[in-house]
Amino acid sequence: MRAVVVRTPGGLDHLALVEQPDPGAPGIGEIRVRLHANSLNYHDYCVAIGVMPTEDGRIPMADGAGIVEAVGDGVGEFAVGDSVVSCFYPLWQEGAPVASGFATVPGDGVDGYARESVVRPASWFTKAPKGYSHAEAATLTTAGLTAWRALVGDGGLKAGDTVLALGTGGVSIFGLQFAKMMGARVIITSSSDEKLERARALGADETINYKQELNWGEKVFALTGGRGVDHVLEVGGPGTLPQSIAAVRIGGHIAMIGILTGFSGEVPTLALLGKQARLQGLIVGSRRQQIEMIRAIEENGLKPVIDKSFALADMAQSFLYEESGQHFGKIVLEF
Ligand SMILES: NC(=O)c1ccc[n+]([C@@H]2O[C@H](COP(=O)([O-])OP(=O)(O)OC[C@H]3O[C@@H](n4cnc5c(N)ncnc54)[C@H](OP(=O)(O)O)[C@@H]3O)[C@@H](O)[C@H]2O)c1
Repeated sequence: MRAVVVRTPGGLDHLALVEQPDPGAPGIGEIRVRLHANSLNYHDYCVAIGVMPTEDGRIPMADGAGIVEAVGDGVGEFAVGDSVVSCFYPLWQEGAPVASGFATVPGDGVDGYARESVVRPASWFTKAPKGYSHAEAATLTTAGLTAWRALVGDGGLKAGDTVLALGTGGVSIFGLQFAKMMGARVIITSSSDEKLERARALGADETINYKQELNWGEKVFALTGGRGVDHVLEVGGPGTLPQSIAAVRIGGHIAMIGILTGFSGEVPTLALLGKQARLQGLIVGSRRQQIEMIRAIEENGLKPVIDKSFALADMAQSFLYEESGQHFGKIVLEF
């Protein structure tokens, strides 16, 4: 079985494609999956380059999709031939969050899915949406579920709400798509006018180039007629939070998702409490939320936006492409 491993101390030149022993037959409660795709996330990138260090020889990638090849005794949910997709927090099945950090996350604290075959408890996967390719399914584990939980699970998104999405990466484009699917209005920012055009084609109602409009938070607020947005998908972190607070409505919801501008910084405390906004940190979601998201996707025919596909052996090039920021939506590996 081929797999990619991250050698200590990380770095794209420390990714190695290796032969590993076949994982064998599934035991009680387990399934064996022939994996065919991963999708890339900023978190996987941080693991690969060693910014989030893991064990020497760790198999990276949290997002894996493929076909069930064998089922162990006691597995009723899956059958041989089912298309499945991995769960980010395999031990968080439903309800309130029980997991913190990345100790149990495949591709970080435990081995992930940059491999051809795996045997895992059945509860570590869900069925993929009907009609999805493996690459499409692989986009859901991290980026899709994060946007879904931020807006629908925790945000309580309703038709008529206004959503602000920052940039045009994986989480934000899923946020745009889910928000339009649910009947919301979407304002999205990007460093690129060409990407903003593509966002409009996907249904974005208002677009702002954050490189040209430095006070984009105020601009967003003005675009809502001075009411502010109901939901912010805050993927930027300390460098963007003050403007997200400026953009949100009184009593609105800011989902604190990303760290694109750094790990820590000042919180404009007075502005935040003045807005009486909910600032909520979150990491992806539960298996139950993934099942609910997939049900909504199937009912509405939503398809993810895949920018580019690479071979498993070209993982380093795929991360360089992500690092370049050229992408719009998701980058995937297919094998
Ligand atoms: N908490 C969670 O559960 C969770 C889950 C997934 C991701 N994340 C985090 O969310 C962030 C985004 O992840 P992703 O996978 O969507 O990344 P990604 O696909 O690599 O997207 C990055 C995009 O963000 C935009 N961007 C970069 N700097 C920006 C800035 N200063 N202001 C506004 N937009 C900016 C750029 O869009 P343009 O090219 O359009 O400018 C860039 O293409 C990362 O920090 C990641 O770690 C967190």
